[in-house]
Amino acid sequence: MTALLRSIGSLPAAERPQAGKAANEAREKLETALKVRGANLSAAQEHDVEEIDVTLPGYRPNIGGLHPITRTLRDIARAFAPLGFRMVDTPEVEWDEYNFEKLNIPPDHPARDMWDTFFLKSESRPGEMLLRTHTSPAQIRLMEQIQPPIRILAMGRCYRYEDVDASHESIFYQIEGLAVDTAITMSDLRGVLEYFTRTLFGRDREIRIRGSFFPFTEPSCEAEMSCHVCGGTGCRVCGGTGWIEILGAGMVHPDVLRGVGYDPDKYSGFAFGMGAERVAMLRYGIDDIRNFYRNDLRFLRQFN
Ligand code: PHE
Repeated sequence: MTALLRSIGSLPAAERPQAGKAANEAREKLETALKVRGANLSAAQEHDVEEIDVTLPGYRPNIGGLHPITRTLRDIARAFAPLGFRMVDTPEVEWDEYNFEKLNIPPDHPARDMWDTFFLKSESRPGEMLLRTHTSPAQIRLMEQIQPPIRILAMGRCYRYEDVDASHESIFYQIEGLAVDTAITMSDLRGVLEYFTRTLFGRDREIRIRGSFFPFTEPSCEAEMSCHVCGGTGCRVCGGTGWIEILGAGMVHPDVLRGVGYDPDKYSGFAFGMGAERVAMLRYGIDDIRNFYRNDLRFLRQFN
């Protein structure tokens, strides 16, 4: 427009008035059009905001939740905390020494058959490293580090070379408890287990102790609780017996105490170990352990 208006001066005098008039009209038209369009645009913008339909359903955010095993581990830790049990964490990749030898299981001892082990290949120390088959090495690691009184809870992944089926996984979680002090007896173990099962499975639970064998405890036992489904009269969950086996336990073997430098005449202790998946299966009524690690959200969402 500017160039056009300027060029009018160079036109023959007779043509100038008409050309000037036409150019001015064109400029006015453009300016009005620009104003109108601008006003429309800003009006349209405000209009759009008001046109959001607040009655439309929103997008549901995908909220995560705790895995049933995580929940179970936390509940167990919470149950033992008031008794003074402190949480400790020890390695999943262990030395044979801690997983077996210091637990009174020498090389070639037949009791090793109780744990099908994944051994790791190591160039420098062949055959000595493995994936821990239970959390019991935590007992040794703790006792080597500190002096009694000891009350600890160790939980974490364990590994076994298992055929996976409805009740066995090759990767699973264990919870290990250890108490060492002067004058700890089997009745302390019994009392702690009773308190624990009542906290997790209801105040009517009873504990029953049956003899068993573990190389690192003497005496060794298996603890059973009265069935939380039928209350002890017998049902499918407890196989008609009224009792459910929940863990292995015993008094820490004097040789194990001696091995970590404790005097077995002065100190005694109890230890127990249980499977987290088993506890979770009993609590939630799950009949196949494989459900926990299939990552099927339809299964996992039920616990949140
Ligand atoms: N570590 C044993 C197992 O995995 C369980 C256990 C722990 C038994 C502590 C006695 C004492 O089978």
